[in-house]
Amino acid sequence: MRNQKRLLALSFVSLLLFPGLCLYWTIYDIVGDSNRWNGTPIPAGNVEGSSDISPATESFESLDFGGFDNETGRSFDGRLIVPNLIHYIRFNKTTFTFVDYVCLRSAYIQQKPERIYLHTNVDVNNLTGRYWKWIQSEPDLYRRIVIQPIELPSEIFGQPLSDGWRLYHGSDIARIRTMMKYGGIYLDNDVYVVQNLDKYRKYEIAMGWDEGQFLGSQVIIAHHDARFLPLWLDTYQQYHADLWYYNAGERPTTEILHRQPELMHRVKWRFGVHMLMQDLYDSMEWPDWRLNQDTIHLLINHRSYLDPHFKEYPDFNDRNIQHYPYMFGQLARLVLPKRPSSATVRRYWNSTTVALDGIVNGQRSPDPTHD
Ligand SMILES: *[C@@H]1O[C@H](CO)[C@@H](O)[C@H](O)[C@H]1NC(C)=O
Ligand SMILES: *[C@@H]1O[C@H](CO)[C@@H](O)[C@H](O)[C@H]1NC(C)=O
Ligand SMILES: *[C@@H]1O[C@H](CO)[C@@H](O)[C@H](O)[C@H]1NC(C)=O
Ligand SMILES: *[C@@H]1O[C@H](CO)[C@@H](O)[C@H](O)[C@H]1NC(C)=O
Repeated sequence: MRNQKRLLALSFVSLLLFPGLCLYWTIYDIVGDSNRWNGTPIPAGNVEGSSDISPATESFESLDFGGFDNETGRSFDGRLIVPNLIHYIRFNKTTFTFVDYVCLRSAYIQQKPERIYLHTNVDVNNLTGRYWKWIQSEPDLYRRIVIQPIELPSEIFGQPLSDGWRLYHGSDIARIRTMMKYGGIYLDNDVYVVQNLDKYRKYEIAMGWDEGQFLGSQVIIAHHDARFLPLWLDTYQQYHADLWYYNAGERPTTEILHRQPELMHRVKWRFGVHMLMQDLYDSMEWPDWRLNQDTIHLLINHRSYLDPHFKEYPDFNDRNIQHYPYMFGQLARLVLPKRPSSATVRRYWNSTTVALDGIVNGQRSPDPTHD
């Protein structure tokens, strides 16, 4: 194991010295991923520490990113550098909403992660609800789920978190720490995954950052040694409890990235963390959404004041989604599993199985890595 690490470190150095090799390695890299997918099965519904599962593949390797190229990225030994782990943070959430479920399933279908970590302060026995049962009833999905206990932060660098926003600011902090511990793919609970994200797994860190905007922290794809992460956490030395997005987005953008843009692989549009309210909830067509987006932030907590049809559909579920006419309905229906108990779902599936098989088997249209 140690020898292997040394070899990896050597490969890294040689790649830095001989950039001509990179092209070869990057191509090789695309093939590299398939093996892991057939790796050792993970026991269902793991609670980390309480079972004997081994650590996930390559999540604990250390890398020195000095001089890293944020445009070309890098692979090691034919492998992508960011582990194929998905992380969700769920503070005080006992119930899986329909939207949580849709998003989790979109990530499962498109990304086929080795594990899906649910970092939560809720006891596993207290997780409830129809859609949690649905997750448990699907063996291949459920065996990837790891319930990872985590405490809701109460303070940061000696400063108490905002009373009203503790769950949110706590999650902002926890996602940085989680990425620094494991690396992988962090997703907000309302991020819908449109395409496989492997093309970003060769970067130190990739995040949504639109022109003239602050960084979007809803999607983070990073190695745990990414240099930006500790700098970001450190901005909480000046924590602003009264400002919603100061430490999560504003300060890391103005204080770190404006000075050192090379620390980030900037994704301007494809992570869909910009304002897509109208496309999702007020339009029946969204040409090329699949071509142009890799993920979409569903802005679910902002619907109550931004969605003109909110009163007709204050809540989504597997029944009303069948006739919900706007784009989000299409997105959701695409990732719902075949459920023999529901005639409507069955009818829908009878007509769309072919389309969905295309997604499941990874036959996607080619699309560019860069924005
Ligand atoms: C989180 O849940 C616990 C247990 O139900 C509760 O005591 C606490 O007040 C909740 N925290 C917040 C910030 O809502
Ligand atoms: C779980 O639920 C029980 C009651 O149903 C409650 O006493 C306990 O505090 C809950 N635990 C957590 C961690 O939420
Ligand atoms: C990479 O870093 C440079 C600064 O060195 C910056 O100008 C460029 O926009 C960055 N590229 C991406 C894709 O983030
Ligand atoms: C769906 O197709 C199956 C056969 O593939 C058929 O038995 C069933 O009746 C169909 N369901 C509906 C609702 O059309």
